[in-house]
Amino acid sequence: MLLKKRVALITGGAMGIGKAIAVDMAKEGAKVVIADISEEAGNSAVAEIKSAGGDAYFVKANVTDMEGLNNAAKEVEDKVGGVDILVINAGISIKKPLDEVDEALWDKIVDINLKGSFLTLKAFVDQVRKSKYGKVIFITSGSALTGTGGGIHYAASKAGQNAMVLNLAKELGPLGINVNAIAPRVIQTEILDHLYPDEESRKKLIEQIPIRKIGQPEDIAYMASFLASDKASYINGQILLLDGGRTHQ
Ligand SMILES: NC(=O)c1ccc[n+]([C@@H]2O[C@H](COP(=O)([O-])OP(=O)(O)OC[C@H]3O[C@@H](n4cnc5c(N)ncnc54)[C@H](O)[C@@H]3O)[C@@H](O)[C@H]2O)c1
Repeated sequence: MLLKKRVALITGGAMGIGKAIAVDMAKEGAKVVIADISEEAGNSAVAEIKSAGGDAYFVKANVTDMEGLNNAAKEVEDKVGGVDILVINAGISIKKPLDEVDEALWDKIVDINLKGSFLTLKAFVDQVRKSKYGKVIFITSGSALTGTGGGIHYAASKAGQNAMVLNLAKELGPLGINVNAIAPRVIQTEILDHLYPDEESRKKLIEQIPIRKIGQPEDIAYMASFLASDKASYINGQILLLDGGRTHQ
């Protein structure tokens, strides 16, 4: 077990990639805290992890609400005793071409994906600092590195997260905290249903991926558990593109 005795908090941990990370980290022995806007999905993920023998706790959190996040951090400190591993995963994608991106859409995406990452960090970084075993993992996106994906608004929000990772690695590294990003390209979740709605577009997509499969949430989760473990203690400030080799096609 890679993460025995660790506490890992995952924003957006109720569904998709975040849930897969929570499930895998629990399998690796961590107590996982699912911090999500959706109470129903969050509680159901907690129940699933517990019924598989893992340890999990749900805390309601909207990453755009600083006060709510601070309350969630207090609740986590009181009930769980603080966080060692912080996974900044909550995010949304609404794919649109430039002419359909208006100010409201730009603000919505940047507010949740980028500012939400900053607010999450503000609320929980003290707990990670206090832990003698700090890890911060961002789930960003290949779209920020390749220029393809959810549109300029989404790519910009994700590029902002990557820049945060590079800065934080330098600021928090000297405290023994590793900060890294996993940048997935296309992963089979609800976001994907929105980006590639029909069978024809998915067939074309698979043809572009050298490994000839669409990535699964578990593919990201295994990397997250590894980055959160002692085995990755010399990895800091990296943005790891997980795309089945598509970039090099
Ligand atoms: N699926 C992909 O292909 C893909 C590719 C690259 C990057 N990503 C990134 O991975 C992360 C997870 O994406 P996913 O595909 O699992 O999405 P998803 O929609 O399946 O799950 C997102 C989770 O975040 C939660 N959430 C949404 N808004 C929130 C908020 N304001 N506060 C707290 N929680 C909130 C949702 O309730 C949900 O549990 C996102 O940051 C996304 O940008 C996904």
